[in-house]
Amino acid sequence: MTIKAFVIGHPIAHSRSPLIHGTWLAEHGIDGSYEAIDVSPEALPGFFERLRSGEFAGGNVTIPHKEAVFELCDTVDPLAEQIGAVNTLVARNGKVHGTNTDYLGFLGNLDAGSPGWSDSLDRALVLGAGGAARAVIVALQSRGIPILLLNRTRATADKLAAEFEGDITVATLDALADAAPHAGLVVNTTSVGMHGTRFEGFDATALRPDTLVTDIVYSPLVTPLLADARAQGLRTVDGLGMLLHQAVPGFEAWFGVRPNVTPDLRARIEATL
Ligand code: ATR
Repeated sequence: MTIKAFVIGHPIAHSRSPLIHGTWLAEHGIDGSYEAIDVSPEALPGFFERLRSGEFAGGNVTIPHKEAVFELCDTVDPLAEQIGAVNTLVARNGKVHGTNTDYLGFLGNLDAGSPGWSDSLDRALVLGAGGAARAVIVALQSRGIPILLLNRTRATADKLAAEFEGDITVATLDALADAAPHAGLVVNTTSVGMHGTRFEGFDATALRPDTLVTDIVYSPLVTPLLADARAQGLRTVDGLGMLLHQAVPGFEAWFGVRPNVTPDLRARIEATL
């Protein structure tokens, strides 16, 4: 029997997930499908009934449903609760389990792009305190890494930090120059960098020569932040791998095979940017 999976969103046309999962299905010769389905917010409860009926093994959830699905899932992973979003659903025995694989995508991307990056890392500078910062914080804390959260608006960062236990300190972006010598990792979690926009006042020359710089923005692939870091001779990991690696656990749960993020897959997705 064909195993079926999906990505639901509204609209859904721009999702790259069908290409990622379709590539893996073909590579592994699996009798399966992965389709993009446009589901409006009103239609979401009805879609969950289809899920419980066993029509699908599961699927991905994207905008605007990542928060709304919490109420509809039978069980939700505690880490997804902490991240505040569900991006992956697994249907089994008439029940739907919600999880979030973005933090695994973040870790998988850095593990592949800069092996050993988290060994004896002193501190991570996390830029931004929005939704995407949550997955990055969960990821970093899973490796026991102390965090300095830098945000344009201090109050937003204070509020976010208060939701997490563990070592998180907060400052505004203008603290970057003082903080930079104490951090082996810089992560941009904001949308700054999309379409080539720049952080005002971000000075890459303040960073330590051994600092690794990564961005969750992947369009353009080399954001101004990464370009500035490279110009200083620093190591960088771009954000595209996070998109690819976050897809791995879902595929494994639905189709029973752990897929690889290959250069060929990356090239295929890169061609769509
Ligand atoms: P998401 O949920 O997708 O992460 P968001 O909640 O809008 O998006 O969060 C965007 C983050 O990017 C916030 O931390 C925001 O800073 P503020 O809290 O000060 O708004 C940050 N951000 C957005 N545009 C920015 C800019 N031009 N310069 C600095 N930070 C910016």
